[in-house]
Amino acid sequence: MMGKQPRGALVVFEGIDRSGKTSQTNLLNGALSARGIPSALRRFPDRTTPTGLLISSYLEGQKNLSDQVIHLLFSSNRWEATSEMKETLESGTTLIVDRYAYSGVAYTAAKGAADLDWCKAPDRGLLTPDLVIYFDIPTSVAASRAEYGGERYEKVEFQEKVRSQFAKLGEGDKRWAIVDAARPGEDIHEAVLGLVLEAVERAKNEPLREDLWV
Ligand code: TMP
Repeated sequence: MMGKQPRGALVVFEGIDRSGKTSQTNLLNGALSARGIPSALRRFPDRTTPTGLLISSYLEGQKNLSDQVIHLLFSSNRWEATSEMKETLESGTTLIVDRYAYSGVAYTAAKGAADLDWCKAPDRGLLTPDLVIYFDIPTSVAASRAEYGGERYEKVEFQEKVRSQFAKLGEGDKRWAIVDAARPGEDIHEAVLGLVLEAVERAKNEPLREDLWV
C-alpha cells in the first residue's frame, strides 16, 4: 500500500499594490511544476464568489461600504475558501496565494479606523501559512511601474501607510520573509524559489495548522 501523501506548503505573497506579486507567483508556479512539485495558484480577494463580487464593486468605486463592513467581507472571502484550500494542501499540492489576511489587516489599519487587534480578530484561526513572502518596495518605485488603474486604494499616500502597517505586522513573525522587490525580476525569482523550496520540504514534516494569530 502507498504511504500517505506529504502535504503541500501554504505560501503567501504580500506587498503593496504593484509590488510584482502577480508576475512572480506565476513564475514560481511554473518553476515548481518544472521540478515536479504539484502546485496551484489562488488569489484574494477571489472576485468570483458572492462576497468577491461585492468586494469588487467596492474596489471599483461602484459601491460604498463602511470600513468595518468591507473588512469583514474580505475576511469572509478567505473563510469561504478555507475548506477547499485545506483539501488541496492535504492532497499534496503546494498553494501559492497572492494576498491573504496580512493584506486584510494592513489595508484596514492604514485607514486609521480600527486598531490592529480589531483588524486581526476576524481572521483568527485561518489556515496558518508556512511562509509569508513580503515584497518590499518603495511606494515611488511601485507607482512608477505602471499607472495605477484607478481602484479605490491605488494612491501613493495611502500605499505609504499600508507599507508601514505591513512592516509592523512582519515584526516578530517567524514565517515572514522580506524580499527586496525593487530588483530585476530574475533576482527576485531566484530568492523566492529558494525560500519556497525550503518551505515545501519543511511542510512535509509539520502538521497543517489552523491557528493564524491565535
Ligand atoms: P488585488 O489588486 O491584489 O486584486 O487586491 C485588490 C485590493 O484589495 C488591493 O488594493 C488590496 C486590497 N485588499 C484589502 O484591502 N483587504 C484584503 O483582505 C485583501 C485580500 C486585499
